[in-house]
Amino acid sequence: MFEHLDILPPDPILGLNQTFQQDTNPDKINLSVGVYQNAQGVTPIFKAVKKAEQQLLAQQQTKSYAPQAGDPAFIERITSLLLGSELVTSLGERVATVMTPGGCGALRMGAELLTRSNKGATVWVSDPTWANHYPLLQSAGLTLKPYSYYSPETHGVDFRAMLESLNSIPNGDIVLLHGCCHNPTGADITPTQWDAVIDVLEERDLTPFIDVAYQGFGDGLEQDAYGVRAAVKRLPQVLIASSCSKNFGLYRERIGAVMVITESVKQTQAAKSHILSAARCNYSMSPYHGGGIVGHLLSDEALTKEWKEELESVRSRMNSLRLGLAKGLNEAQSKIDFGFVAQSKGMFCYLGISREDVLSLRSEFGIYLLESTRINVAGLSEENLPVIVERVSSVLTR
Ligand code: LMR
Repeated sequence: MFEHLDILPPDPILGLNQTFQQDTNPDKINLSVGVYQNAQGVTPIFKAVKKAEQQLLAQQQTKSYAPQAGDPAFIERITSLLLGSELVTSLGERVATVMTPGGCGALRMGAELLTRSNKGATVWVSDPTWANHYPLLQSAGLTLKPYSYYSPETHGVDFRAMLESLNSIPNGDIVLLHGCCHNPTGADITPTQWDAVIDVLEERDLTPFIDVAYQGFGDGLEQDAYGVRAAVKRLPQVLIASSCSKNFGLYRERIGAVMVITESVKQTQAAKSHILSAARCNYSMSPYHGGGIVGHLLSDEALTKEWKEELESVRSRMNSLRLGLAKGLNEAQSKIDFGFVAQSKGMFCYLGISREDVLSLRSEFGIYLLESTRINVAGLSEENLPVIVERVSSVLTR
């Protein structure tokens, strides 16, 4: 029965990470998958997260099913963390949140909701976008088309082209936006630009589907939520996929949330019932553990404070490494002005070198970045930075 199946090529991100793990080069450096590493090259568990997990396990009396939508504390707190408590209060029951297996689960449940309400709907995604957006959303039955976003010439957002592109999208379509820390380019739009984008969405009756996988990794927890909050304040319907992989460091626990805001309580209830039904058809309900941890942590003031401080130190360390890389590269060579690296937000940015140089870095020096030239800034360290600067400059100046 399976004889006609071909072996598929590995996933461009997870597959490259796998190749890295198998590389026997003792000097190898992993800048591929988006995972934070500390100065020792370890992806640490946040102290506050560990404490919340220990407390949760000590208190837990049962492993019976949690409510189908997920842990109530998680749902309440994660919604407030992203939307802010004022907005949550004003929305009342026009917002519904369902716990999901990671940000991918949230994207998938959002996609299933979209196909159930509008079979064959078109979702417009930034050019470029996260490599997994295409397979994930298309396999749910959505049609994907690109809108202009990044300019390789300026190494930043081509906002004029973006607006022009958005202005040509047919009324009623869906636009996927990165809430902050654009993956893969690290080039974000400013709050003023968010306002202009929302003007277009409003005028053209376009529904935003906002992917927020890095809240707290850009300019801070509140600042990174600007676009999402502005969209929710002004538009009748918004779909959001959020992830706790990065900002709570809960990668392997697979915890995220899909949020839906509509213009009426009735529509929101209907949308939620379809998300629950889609989940039931796929995996019944989300695993509990990660949501239990986040729900417990965010319900405890001291743990929340500790987690925010830890997140802030992760963010500022990443920023200083980003600045160090830009400065180091600019001092070491003059072929490319890497000032744009310093401007990038979050975990990623494009280096803008040639594909050939990317492959040389991998085969000659064991430095792994994606072929698109995306690097994981969170994979830089005080120790590997000088080596990376030296190697990248050497391939560039050959
Ligand atoms: C990434 O883009 O590297 C991360 O979001 C991890 C993943 O699942 O691809």
